[in-house]
Amino acid sequence: MTLQNIYPWILRAQKEGWAVGAFNANTLEQVQSIVLAAQAEQSPAIIQISHRALTHIGSGNEIQGIKYIAAVGKIAADSITAPVSLHLDHGTESEVIQAITLGFTSVMFDGDGLPFEENISITKRLCDMAHSVGVCMEAEVGEVPKPDGKEFNESAIDLTDPDEASQFTRTTGIDTLAVALGSVHGLRAKSVALDLERLLAIRKRVTIPLVLHGSSGVSDNDIKQGISMGLSKVNVATQLAQAFTGAIRDVLNKDGSLVDPRKYMSAGRNAQMEIVRERIRFFGSSGKAK
Ligand code: 13P
Repeated sequence: MTLQNIYPWILRAQKEGWAVGAFNANTLEQVQSIVLAAQAEQSPAIIQISHRALTHIGSGNEIQGIKYIAAVGKIAADSITAPVSLHLDHGTESEVIQAITLGFTSVMFDGDGLPFEENISITKRLCDMAHSVGVCMEAEVGEVPKPDGKEFNESAIDLTDPDEASQFTRTTGIDTLAVALGSVHGLRAKSVALDLERLLAIRKRVTIPLVLHGSSGVSDNDIKQGISMGLSKVNVATQLAQAFTGAIRDVLNKDGSLVDPRKYMSAGRNAQMEIVRERIRFFGSSGKAK
């Protein structure tokens, strides 16, 4: 199937109380693990590429990274019958424009650090552009921290304000809203509880589907409850990287003389595919491809 605008599935997920998984990839094998898992589970899925993944894929040049991955994403989607979209995760303004132009079917603008009004005006402009070519648009109010291995101050996390969320979504016209409920990107243990009361307050003021970032560090119980309360797109990155890299580490530890990259990269691909399948089932999207 060609790359899809996955928004109709996200809307359906919101209505029926499940979530579409958005899975981050940095390498060809990670992209393949996502489409193989989506096909095996007959589930809609999102291949998600972050700003830093673009830098990696483009050998330091993000725009080159967008070109590479736009081509790879199309071929990956064409290789299966389940619906898959290619999403830019945490893009800058120029990356969002390039991604829309080069065939991504979904984009997120990260206005982190911008004054609220400026975030609104850039997001609205990008959203109009995305919608003019049938691309799904996500943006964020508040901030899910990206600590990059650094310490973060829990009490200083900029959680989503329900009134701002309402004003932002009404003014910009975005399709999905990323909300900050206490999760943090890049945690390796599932220890964080979500602020579900805040989610309820946002849900009362915002009708569009909501997005959970930083799910690898959130307890499964809270993810489950959050999904039932309207988190209809759930982002997963670190859990996948742990499985992918862990499997490669095992193979290399077992055979110190191994040099053939196919032997260890395929182990990483298989291990990540199993985690994507498990998350798809957990999010309730297995069998929802039709
Ligand atoms: P994790 O690394 O915590 O899974 O977060 C993924 C994410 O939100 C990508 O935007």
